Amino acid sequence: MKEKNYIKLSPNCYWNPHEEVVYVDGILTPLSANKTSCLKLLIYYRGKPLKDIEIFDFVFKGESKEFNNKTVRTLMSNLRTKLPCLNIINHYGGFYSLEKYREPTPDFQEYLLDFMDQAKNGIVITDPNQKDNPIIYVNEAFTKMFGYASEEVLGKNCRFLQGEDTEQFARSEIREAIKNEKEVLAVIRNYHKGGRLIYNEVQISPIFDKHTLQLKYFLGIQKDVTDLYTLMLQLKEKK
Ligand SMILES: Cc1cc2nc3c(=O)[nH]c(=O)nc-3n(C[C@H](O)[C@H](O)[C@H](O)COP(=O)(O)O)c2cc1C
Repeated sequence: MKEKNYIKLSPNCYWNPHEEVVYVDGILTPLSANKTSCLKLLIYYRGKPLKDIEIFDFVFKGESKEFNNKTVRTLMSNLRTKLPCLNIINHYGGFYSLEKYREPTPDFQEYLLDFMDQAKNGIVITDPNQKDNPIIYVNEAFTKMFGYASEEVLGKNCRFLQGEDTEQFARSEIREAIKNEKEVLAVIRNYHKGGRLIYNEVQISPIFDKHTLQLKYFLGIQKDVTDLYTLMLQLKEKK
């Protein structure tokens, strides 16, 4: 078995996409046509939750069978029993996904905060499940960019960076995206602790729990684009 021609689904489980068969501990594990087809779909969309009706339509296409979520549940349960080495997740609301397999990266988690602190752009994490979506983490680049120590900003909503300058289109654009749990990229006028204007290009992304699909955090990445913006505005004025 040449491993490079196979997709690794877990430490001991491989999928051969050409023959559409699965090997567990190097041994070919036969699957029924429906299970093969279901597994194929899950592999294709690895990590992405699929609705039971999508699975049903894919597996039973051509058969004039009426959709029934129990059929999918049974199929999934049988697939799990047959391949206990796979991490098939049953999400709330009739969604299923196959967990992506990642090679273990020892030490990586231990260094995660160091990575964030050594990043060149500001990083902020907020908790939308608390009142007014307060900051729960900022990295060092954030504290340098705005001149505040992390203790001064933890627990506050990021809007304090706008100072008195709150009548901005970017602000309502961000508000709308956050309300709809969508990603947004905007340039907003912010102020350094010392009062200096900063044009801040901020990218805000919602972070969802992979299993429950519930909104857990917002991640913000801030980039100081003041020099570029000042130049652009000067050029505009000259025209
Ligand atoms: C993760 C995250 C990062 C944010 N970063 C900034 C920022 O750097 N500067 C800023 O002015 N607003 C930022 N905001 C937006 C404000 O917190 C707030 O959502 C925005 O002002 C719109 O809401 P409001 O109308 O209630 O103030 C950020 C929001 C989130 C969730």
